[in-house]
Amino acid sequence: MVRAWYMDSSSEDQRLEHHLSPPKFVSLDDLFAQTGVTYWKLDPKNYDSEGKLDQIKKERGYNYMDVIQVSPEKLHNYEEKIKIFYEEHLHADEEIRFITEGSGYFDVRDKDDQWIRIEVTPGDLLILPAGIYHRFTLDSKNYVKAMRLFVGEPVWTPYNRPVDDMDVRKKYMADQKKGFVKN
Ligand code: LAC
Ligand code: NI
Repeated sequence: MVRAWYMDSSSEDQRLEHHLSPPKFVSLDDLFAQTGVTYWKLDPKNYDSEGKLDQIKKERGYNYMDVIQVSPEKLHNYEEKIKIFYEEHLHADEEIRFITEGSGYFDVRDKDDQWIRIEVTPGDLLILPAGIYHRFTLDSKNYVKAMRLFVGEPVWTPYNRPVDDMDVRKKYMADQKKGFVKN
């Protein structure tokens, strides 16, 4: 079960959990209502035979896949990349990550611009909508392996906040105001 919670505002190590005191967890339904983030639980090992991944790919047109490993040993320019991942940013397309090993945190903003931290572990497939402000960090175990999916040729360009005038941001904000609809 994926866990999500509101973050405190301390500037301590980004790899810590950063709970409020007392902790305030967010259900998957609330997470979707607030942010439009969707979640599937898959088998982190037998996802090929399981069939769910194939179905999601087919339904959503994901025809590109690669694998990224984030750790000091596995990722070229690790320190620089880690900083880029944790800068608040958005993309012009969905960000789709299927975690197969390790763990980490995706942080997203709720309707009142508060950070919600989403913990991902093996089997978690997360879809962040286009135009959502977010960031990513490893946790204190310092390792994640994730499949990245995309529609067509992948574009990973991050646009750092503030980019509120981008069309994709305006569309996201309109959807957030109207209420997100499952697609
Ligand atoms: C990305 C994640 C780290 O843009 O948000 O790849
Ligand atoms: Ni991103």
